[in-house]
This record gives sequence, C-alpha cells and structure tokens, in this order.
Amino acid sequence: MGGAESPRPPDQRRTAVAQLHASAARGVKDPQGTPAAVDTVVVVDFGAQYAQLIARRVREQHVRSLILPYDTPLEEIRALQPKGIILSGGPASVYEMGAPRVDPHLFESGIPILGICYGVQLMAHLLGGRTATTSAREYGRTRLFVDDRGDLFAGLEPRLLCWMSHGDAVVALPDGFVPLAHTDQTPFAAVADRRRRLFGVQFHPEVTHTPWGREVLRNFLTQVCACRPEWTMASFIATQVEAIQTRVGTDRALCALSGGVDSGAAAALVHRAIGKQLTCMFVDHGFLRQSEPDQVIRTFRDHFHIPLVQVDARDRFQRRLAGVTDPEAKRRAIGEEFIAVFDEEAAGLGRIDFLVQGTLYPDVIESGTRTAARIKTHHNVGGLPATMRFQLIEPFRELFKDEVREVARQLDLPDAIVWRHPFPGPGLAIRILGEVTADRLDLLRAADAIVVEELRASGLAQDVWQAFAVLLPVHAVGVRGDARTYGDALAIRAVTSEDGMTADWARLPEDLLERLASRITRELPRIARVVYDITSKPPATIEWE
Ligand code: XMP
Repeated sequence: MGGAESPRPPDQRRTAVAQLHASAARGVKDPQGTPAAVDTVVVVDFGAQYAQLIARRVREQHVRSLILPYDTPLEEIRALQPKGIILSGGPASVYEMGAPRVDPHLFESGIPILGICYGVQLMAHLLGGRTATTSAREYGRTRLFVDDRGDLFAGLEPRLLCWMSHGDAVVALPDGFVPLAHTDQTPFAAVADRRRRLFGVQFHPEVTHTPWGREVLRNFLTQVCACRPEWTMASFIATQVEAIQTRVGTDRALCALSGGVDSGAAAALVHRAIGKQLTCMFVDHGFLRQSEPDQVIRTFRDHFHIPLVQVDARDRFQRRLAGVTDPEAKRRAIGEEFIAVFDEEAAGLGRIDFLVQGTLYPDVIESGTRTAARIKTHHNVGGLPATMRFQLIEPFRELFKDEVREVARQLDLPDAIVWRHPFPGPGLAIRILGEVTADRLDLLRAADAIVVEELRASGLAQDVWQAFAVLLPVHAVGVRGDARTYGDALAIRAVTSEDGMTADWARLPEDLLERLASRITRELPRIARVVYDITSKPPATIEWE
C-alpha cells in the first residue's frame, strides 16, 4: 500500500496465530478440534491494512479463510491443505532491507496463488521478474483495460475502473507469465502463469472502490482453486457442535456470561452440543446497563434452561473501587476482582474441565496496532487468564463479529443480545470519570438508557458501532425557570467503526442530538449540560478511560 502502515514484527505475529495452526501442522484438526472439512484459503499477511478485508471477501464467497503471517513456515501452510493462497498487499518495497518475504518454494507447491499489490510484486521479484519504483505511481480510481478475459476476468467487461494504491510496480515478468490487463501507466496490472496457477493483480479487488473486485476473487476461488462454497454459519454450527461433543465427551464445561453476543452465542452453541453438561456463570459487578442482568437471566435460564449460577457481586466491586479514580487502576481492580469472584464460585461447582470463551478472530490474529503499545488494560469476561485450571473451548476463534451475530441469530438468541453494541468488560465504571459511586452509577445508567432508546427509535442503532453516555467529572452552570443551576456534565459518544481499532465520530442527525439533550436534561435534572464527542480514534479512543 502507500507506506503508512508498518508490518508487525515477526515474533509478535508468530505467537498470534501459533495456537490456531500449530496442531493443524501436526494433523488435520485445529486446537478447537474443528475438522478441516470445508475448503480453506490462506491469506498471507504482509502487514496490509486490508488483510482482514481480503479474508472477509473470501468468506463472503462461502469459502473458509485464515490469515497467516508472512513468516509462517511452508510446511505449516501445507498442513492446512489450503485450496488456494492469497498474498496480501503491504507497506514495504521488495528491495528494502528486511522486506517481508515468503519461502520461494511456496510457488512450487502446486497450490494456486493470487498476489495482490505487494503480493504480486514479491511474486515477480522472487521468480526472476523485476519490480521497481516507477514514475507510474497510481493512487485511487484508475482505468483498467482487460486483455485476457479467461479465468480471472471471466464474465467481466473489457474496460473497468479499479482502485490502485502503489508506488512500486512489476516492470518485467518472470518466465512463464503473461499479462491479463493493463492501465495507462502499468503494462502488468494483472498477470498469470497458468501452468503453475500463479496469478497477480496490482489493483485491490478487495476494496469496495473496485466494485467488480468480488468477481475477480470469486473467479480465483471457483475457477482457479475449485473451492466449493460450503462455508456457511449453518455448516459452521454443525461442525462445531460435533467437534465440541467429541472433545468434551461426558465432562462438564463452564461459561462466564457477560450479556454480550460473543459469550452468549458461545454458551448457546456449547449448550446445543452438550446440553446440561454446560453451566453458565453470570457475575453482576454492578456496572451493567439498564435491564442487562434481567435479560441475561431470562435468556439463558428461562429460555434455554441452562443451569445458571448468578453471582451478585455488586457490593464487593463497589467497595473495591472506593476512592479509585485513575483509569488504569480502575481497570486493574475490576479485572482482578472479577477473576477472584469467578475462581471462588467455580470452585464450589464440583469438577469442571472446560471453560467456554467467546474469543473472536481479530483477538487471535492480534492486530498490529493493538500489540504495538498497551493503550489500556482490557478486561473481558471472555478473557479469563489461560493459566486457570481449565481447558479452553473457544468456538469463535475463526469468526468476525458479524459472523458471530449470524451464529447467534441462528441459535435463537434475542435481538437485544444479537445486536448489542460492544460493551467493555469493566462496563459503566470506565464511563464514569473519577470515582464510581452508587448515585453516579444510577445517573449514568439512566442517561445511557435514554441514549440507547432514542438511537433504537431512530432506526440508526445498527449503523453505528457504539453509542453511549459518559459522566464527566466537571460541573457546569445552567438555568431552569429563573433559577441558576449547577450540575453534572454528560458526554454522548457515538462512533462508526469496522473493528473498533479505528473509529470516526458518527454524524448523528441534529434532531436526534437535540432530542437526546432535551430528554436527558429534562428527565435527569442533575445533568446541567450535554456535549457531543466529535473526536475520532486516533487520536482519541472509543471509551473515555
Ligand atoms: P478503545 O476505548 O480502546 O475501545 O478505543 C475499543 C473497543 O474495545 C472496547 N473495550 C473493551 N472491551 N474489555 C472489553 O471487552 C475492555 O476492557 C474494553 N475496553 C474497551 C470498547 O468498548 C470498544 O468497542
């Protein structure tokens, strides 16, 4: 891509996926015991902004995709028996010292390969062609002339608009390659060596600015790799249920529920597999939003009839947070307390071997921006320490959030859980700046409920990643009737985001913002002022603490 991204150091990347494919390297199953029954495509990540997008586009064609770092040993890739490999773009130049590479034997493996941007440049470079920084830099929408409408471009028009973003380009093809498409600047905008089933495109078929890019990817997957489109959430559920049954046998499993879609869907899935051998635990730390504890209990105990241990730890957490104002100290205290409560309660449940967690794929592949520096200590009920005495069952280690939502929908979870916005483990405690007292909690909970209710009523809830209220540690002057008031200030935060790693403030309609301010100040007279947060991430984060 354009040089703005930096590839993650190999050591960090290795640990990120090691678990996922380590046992695949030993046999045919991944650590969760998933049989590799469906066709799989490996996306080799060179530090691209778009690696996850490529993986998603593959899944949209109902083909399973896995992202692996570029330095994954060839034998580990082979052991996954992929039907195809896609080499992602990346910020580097192939001639740079330390530029990320793959083992050149990959190209002799007989597995079809599609290189995208940096991927095709590296392919050409390693196979005896030439890549150079040319004056032919192309950024943005670019006219593409298709010279060969076989396989990759089958069914497409001869003239198309594509999205380019490159400084380097292939300037001489390796032996065996032919051009498939060109632009005004680049003679080799798409290339192929059909004998070895190696393909490459300089443009980005994965971005929406290349609207027909999905066709190119579909052609690669179906015509070149002969992938069967069998990866659906229904097939995923069936495969997981079988794998969990085999793995757990007659033992018991425990799942900590947070009220969110990830742990909720994980519980529902494991329950489908092993029924009453699953026990759920719901620790109410007192920092949940309005009605959430009831919802969790209604759903899991009353609807699914899952044995549910409900722990009311509100007082304990409240005491622990007394006088704590530093955001990191707050997060640490809540995380430690949570583990202590969970451990104590679990000890009283008899012998349980497995712990179910709703870990998602983006957590597994450890996105670079997250590993670079610790911005915040994340606390997550899905993230109990691996050192606990349990074996982990993490059925969603391969899924993205929207895929988990689809699983949840198919498993009959109520809409309020399926579509719940992400909510941090420490809950409202990190949305009360300063000390968390019982009355400030009540105030924020009531304000937050208004935000959620109005957003839902406006029909925009699913258009934003998150929307919530934050109680600020400042007071402001107001006037009611003829009298001066001096009350709390509250911020409303609403953001759009793909994955929570970066975010933009949501352009909520003015009339919705106006309704929010007037309802909040009217129904909660303690609040004198409502402000709207218009900071993106970066430089801000989504949460205020
Ligand atoms: P930040 O504030 O870091 O948040 O921009 C990014 C996303 O993560 C959520 N978040 C958390 N989730 N435990 C969680 O499970 C946490 O401790 C935590 N802190 C932040 C946040 O709501 C946003 O979706």
